[in-house]
Amino acid sequence: MKNSQLDYILRIRLPITIFIVITSFALTYYISRPERDGIGNTPEQPIQFSHKLHAGDMKMDCKYCHTGVDKTRHAMIPAVGTCMNCHTIARKDRPQIQLLKTYYDEGKLLPWKRVHKVPDYAYFNHSVHVNKGIDCTACHGEVTQMEIIGQVSSFTMGSCLDCHKNVHDKLPELKSINKGPNNCYACHR
Ligand code: HEC
Ligand code: HEC
Ligand code: HEC
Ligand code: HEC
Ligand code: HEC
Repeated sequence: MKNSQLDYILRIRLPITIFIVITSFALTYYISRPERDGIGNTPEQPIQFSHKLHAGDMKMDCKYCHTGVDKTRHAMIPAVGTCMNCHTIARKDRPQIQLLKTYYDEGKLLPWKRVHKVPDYAYFNHSVHVNKGIDCTACHGEVTQMEIIGQVSSFTMGSCLDCHKNVHDKLPELKSINKGPNNCYACHR
C-alpha cells in the first residue's frame, strides 16, 4: 500500500465511516425508541373507542370488557359482540357505530392495534398482579381519562424489577403485599 493511499484512508475514509456509523446508530436509537420503551405509543385505532367515555363518564367496570384480567395471564380485548350488547340500540345513527355494526354483521374481528407488549421471551401475568390488589393505574395510568389509549409507563426489565424490589414505596396503600420475584426464571421460563 502506498503512503498516499494510507493517508487517504486515515484522513478521509476513516472519519467518514465513523461518522456514518455514529449517525445511523443515533438515528436507529432515536427512531426505535417508542417500540423499545413503549412510552407514548398511541396507535390510531379502527374505531374511535373512548375509554374516557365508557370507563370514565359511564363508569363501566374494566372487567366487563377485559374479562381475563383477574383470571388469566391476558386481560383480553372484547369481541364486537360485547359492544353490540349496547350498540344495537345506543347511538346507532352515528357513523362510527354503523362501522362497528358492519364488522359485527360480517362476523369480522376488529383489527385493534396493540398498545402494550412485552417480548415473547418474557413472562407477564395479569391475574397474579390484579388479584393482589394492584390497580390498573399502577401500570396503565389514568385510563378513565384517556380518549385514545396510550402507554404511559415502560415495561422494560428494569421497570418490572424496580417495582418488584421497591414494592412498598411503589404501592404504599398495599401494606401486606409481598415483594415481586427477582430470580430470572420467574420472568424467563
Ligand atoms: C366497553 C369495553 C371496555 C371497557 C369498559 C374498558 N375497555 Fe379497555 N379496551 C377496550 C377495547 C375495545 C380496547 C382496544 C382498543 C383500544 O386500544 O382503544 C381496549 C384497550 C385497552 C388497553 C390497551 C390494550 C393494549 O393493546 O395494550 C388497556 C391498557 C385497557 N384497555 C385498560 C382498560 C382499563 C384500565 C379499563 C377500566 C378503567 C378499561 N380498559 C375498560 C374496551 C374496553
Ligand atoms: C354498556 C353499554 C355500552 C357498551 C358495552 C359499549 N358502549 Fe359504546 N357507547 C355507549 C353509549 C350509551 C354511548 C353514547 C354516550 C354519549 O354520547 O354520551 C356510546 C358511545 C360510543 C361511541 C361514540 C359514538 C358517537 O360517534 O357518538 C363509540 C365509537 C362507541 N361507543 C364504541 C364502542 C365500542 C367499540 C364498544 C365495544 C368495545 C362499545 N362502544 C361498548 C354504550 C356502550
Ligand atoms: C403490574 C402491571 C400491570 C397491571 C397492574 C395491569 N396491567 Fe395490563 N398490561 C401490563 C403489561 C406488562 C401488558 C403487556 C402484556 C403482554 O405483552 O403480554 C399489559 C397489557 C394489557 C392489555 C392488552 C391485552 C392483553 O391481554 O395483554 C389490556 C387490555 C390490559 N393490560 C388491561 C389491564 C386492566 C383492565 C388492568 C386492571 C384490571 C390491568 N391491565 C392491570 C401490565 C399491567
Ligand atoms: C407496580 C408494581 C409491579 C410492576 C410494575 C410489575 N410487577 Fe410483577 N409483581 C408485583 C408484585 C407485588 C408481585 C408479587 C405478588 C405476590 O406474590 O404477592 C409480582 C409478581 C410477579 C410474578 C410472579 C407471579 C407468578 O406467577 O409466580 C411475575 C412473573 C411478575 N410479577 C412479572 C412481572 C413482569 C414481567 C413485569 C413487567 C412487565 C412486572 N411483573 C411488573 C408487582 C409488580
Ligand atoms: C420481573 C421480571 C424479570 C426478571 C426477574 C428478569 N427479567 Fe430479564 N427481562 C424482563 C423483561 C420484561 C424483558 C424484556 C423487556 C426489555 O427489553 O427490557 C427482559 C429482557 C431480558 C433480556 C434481553 C436483553 C435486554 O435487556 O433487552 C435478557 C438477556 C434478560 N432479560 C436476562 C435476565 C436475567 C439474566 C435475569 C436474572 C438475573 C432476568 N432477566 C430477570 C423481565 C425480567
